[in-house]
Amino acid sequence: MDPVRNPYAPGAGQRPPELAGRDRELHQFEVVLERVARGRPERSMVLTGLRGVGKTVLLNTFKSMAMQRLWGTGKIEARPDQSIRRPVAASLHMAIRELAPRHRAPERIEEFLGVLKAFAMRDPAAAKGTSHWSPGIDVPASRGRADSGDLEIDLTELFVDAAGVATDLGVGIALFIDEMQDVQAPDISALCAACHELSQTGGPLIVVGAGLPHLPSVLSASKSYSERLFRYARIDRLDRDAADLALIAPAEREAVEFTPEALDALYEAADGYPYFVQAYGKVAWDLAPRSPITVDDIKVSAPEAEEELAVGFFGSRYERATPAERDYMHAMAQLGDDPVPTSDVAESLGRKPSSLSPARDSLIKKGLIYSAERGVIGFTVPHFGRFLRAQPL
Ligand SMILES: Nc1ncnc2c1ncn2[C@@H]1O[C@H](COP(=O)(O)OP(=O)(O)OP(=O)(O)O)[C@@H](O)[C@H]1O
Ligand SMILES: [Mg+2]
Repeated sequence: MDPVRNPYAPGAGQRPPELAGRDRELHQFEVVLERVARGRPERSMVLTGLRGVGKTVLLNTFKSMAMQRLWGTGKIEARPDQSIRRPVAASLHMAIRELAPRHRAPERIEEFLGVLKAFAMRDPAAAKGTSHWSPGIDVPASRGRADSGDLEIDLTELFVDAAGVATDLGVGIALFIDEMQDVQAPDISALCAACHELSQTGGPLIVVGAGLPHLPSVLSASKSYSERLFRYARIDRLDRDAADLALIAPAEREAVEFTPEALDALYEAADGYPYFVQAYGKVAWDLAPRSPITVDDIKVSAPEAEEELAVGFFGSRYERATPAERDYMHAMAQLGDDPVPTSDVAESLGRKPSSLSPARDSLIKKGLIYSAERGVIGFTVPHFGRFLRAQPL
């Protein structure tokens, strides 16, 4: 059928044509926004889940919800090799720019921007002259606030001041952090401390995160009270109804239908994983001659969808691993699809567990595997074990 009208959207962070099966999370976030705006004590939310389950898409939806309530919003994507100081500064700058036109006292905004600039300028990388942040803030940097160089103190002061500006307007500020497991350890600790401080003063600023399944353990290793700061929402595969809805609703808008057998076959193939739902749906649409899309259309199109996933979704990640890391992952794959004890992996490779920790740690850093509990590891990518078992060694 007409590829131009194809509604499906496989791709990182691509907004799906229908956000299926996330009503509970959306409702929870509504409540968070409402309570924070009213100065009620509330834990912020952190989304966790495997690759391709829809964390980024949901985070972006949360951001839109906050914007609809006229909140100031900013978003960053954490990187393992980068301090969050400048990204946080840039995103808070965005948030304040959203609020500024409605603020009645321009000097309050200017005052805050001066603090923000001072905060950003304390970036160690900038001090070495290796890079410059050109924030486009044309007020002079202020002194004595958020510029101590200690990120915990500086973030706390910056957040309190930003929350103050939002309070003037009766709204809040939401800062979204994607790939939050990649925030460096000292920065995570500073961030938790700043959120903790803010939760005590009731300031309307929240940090909303998304990351891999081990993010809660990263946070609690950093600050024991992190469980009281964040409500963890595990984002998972779509159940049968939601997966069907994700396919049917967008098609209906184009006057296209699926036969029930086609939906059975698609659920079997995609296993409810949102990325796979989009990928199989997209190819099925393109290859089906007409509506309704039948089970035969799925049979014809599935190999092509699998091929695309093998290259784009699995292959691109597999290629980032070194030979030693690949051996490690193949050994994991042979042990099954669920998370496995690291000792079993070592045993099947005939090696001492300690001799494998470099490979394991670097796979964790690369975001290919995760360890949510001590001594146990799993693939971050759904169906990755299956993909590896089909690969020649
Ligand atoms: N609720 C949903 N219903 C239907 N499709 C969805 C849903 N959520 C996400 N998708 C689709 O799934 C794909 C992956 O979404 P997204 O990039 O948000 O996943 P992610 O969890 O952030 O993955 P990663 O860990 O790789 O960053 C996208 O193509 C998106 O359109
Ligand atoms: Mg993502």
